[in-house]
Amino acid sequence: MSANPIELSLLRRMRRNRATASLRSLVRETTLTRGDLVQPLFIRAGEGEPDPVESMPRVVRHTLRSLAEECRLLVGRGIPAIALFPSIDGSKKDALGTHATASDNILFEAIRSVKSACPSLVVITDVALDPYTDHGHDGLLNGRGEVDNDSTVEALQRLALTQAQAGADVVAPSDMMDGRVKAIREFLDGEGYVETSILAYAAKYASGYYGPFRDAVKSGSKHARLDKRGYQMDPSNVREALLEVKLDEEEGADMVMVKPAGPYLDIIRAVREYTLLPLAAYQVSGEYAQIHAAARLGWLDYDATRDESLLAIKRAGADMIFTYFAAEVADSLTR
Ligand code: PBG
Repeated sequence: MSANPIELSLLRRMRRNRATASLRSLVRETTLTRGDLVQPLFIRAGEGEPDPVESMPRVVRHTLRSLAEECRLLVGRGIPAIALFPSIDGSKKDALGTHATASDNILFEAIRSVKSACPSLVVITDVALDPYTDHGHDGLLNGRGEVDNDSTVEALQRLALTQAQAGADVVAPSDMMDGRVKAIREFLDGEGYVETSILAYAAKYASGYYGPFRDAVKSGSKHARLDKRGYQMDPSNVREALLEVKLDEEEGADMVMVKPAGPYLDIIRAVREYTLLPLAAYQVSGEYAQIHAAARLGWLDYDATRDESLLAIKRAGADMIFTYFAAEVADSLTR
């Protein structure tokens, strides 16, 4: 006679492997580590206290001084890389994004100061014109107000080169122009920057989840929705993402990215199975803001949803994750 009055006769009881923390640890298939994370950081010119980004709690626009401090903290916590995004004063923006390659662009000083304070930290820079254009688009507009591919690619080559010259380890074109990876690779090589890597934002979707980022870098207007569907991908498409990855691979990308991450786990999985290149996923500003907002309302448990959101991206197949949570989750992760 069994101890329980009712006992099913089951050969396999899945719960046996879940019974204790130790057993769960033995059967765990996916582990997120600090070494997987990239911390995106915003930088602005000027002194004073770093200013908070309203729609992204705990995120600030750094000054050069606070940026160096933050980078030391990240290195101490075992985070291997940062992605730098400049927030440019409106008075410096124009239709051509001229300030992008100006020698007084705060981005270049930021790269130099991070590399001197923390030489081991991988510095990834964004190759796109949107922080510098008054219209907020990633490229140059033609007569019809559309982003012109080929003249934009030419401008991006110079932007990538000036970033490499300032000391960027990885340049990351996020603009979605055709042919930019090849053009940037050739331009960098021609100038002797053969060791600078290219991380291609290969499958970047035209997403509503970028809203808070545009607030952080003050690109575009909160009210007039910036329409980037003429160059960023249609959220409906999967095969197209593989074609983008294929082309960026052929053009010489060292790594490829899927962005956003959480709502696009199927794309991460598909790209993972398709390419041999390292795969990055970007948990974007809106994914971050969503968790904060719901937790603030008391509707979600902050730590649990944050950790789960990152684990899911790793499980889908990402080798590295760009996330605004990087610094704060580091201490709870293995090295
Ligand atoms: C633009 C760029 C964007 C992000 C990174 N680079 C926004 C956009 O395409 O409008 C978004 C990142 C985020 O939302 O966290 N080059």
